[in-house]
Amino acid sequence: MDKIKLNIDGKEVEADKGMNVLEAARQAGIEIPSLCYLRHINEIGSCRVCLVEVEIKGTKTLQASCVYPATEGLVVYTSSPRVRRVRRTMVELLLSDHHRECTTCIRNLNCELQNIADNLGIRNIKFTGEMKSLPVQNKNSFIVRDYNKCIKCRRCEAICSKVQEVNVYSAINRAYDTSLPPPSCRICPRWPA
Ligand code: FES
Repeated sequence: MDKIKLNIDGKEVEADKGMNVLEAARQAGIEIPSLCYLRHINEIGSCRVCLVEVEIKGTKTLQASCVYPATEGLVVYTSSPRVRRVRRTMVELLLSDHHRECTTCIRNLNCELQNIADNLGIRNIKFTGEMKSLPVQNKNSFIVRDYNKCIKCRRCEAICSKVQEVNVYSAINRAYDTSLPPPSCRICPRWPA
């Protein structure tokens, strides 16, 4: 495997050619938070939680590290004040349309979103506005789907199509109205609608 060298947070690190910045950082022991990313399965750069600063021609630009290629000589900052500020805003925006019932949620203390919000020190959500109120889909004995907590990372869609190869989840609409409607799967009897 060909190797490249890049600089992450002032440290020279080695990465495999073809890796993205997120993987290169993690391989070097530098943690960058992520939500939508699943290696080789869901690399769509949608949640923007993994934002980092990348130096391009002397200018630092914000890039989603999970879809930004690690290249020879690249200079990356994963935890600068600007990165932390923007990352925090991205998470606050996700939480602004999220039914925040953490203490009664089955995933309390075992939740990636909660962990990231906690690590960023988010205690209040300053953004207010429309919040969806959708019925919880609990007729399936294997999966309970609460779309009021969906952050549209689309990992379910990717797992369904690329791992299970069932292809029943598919997002509809755009932006705030994006949703993953409950599938009516007739292929796999284990996953009734
Ligand atoms: S983890 Fe990179 S955009 Fe979601």
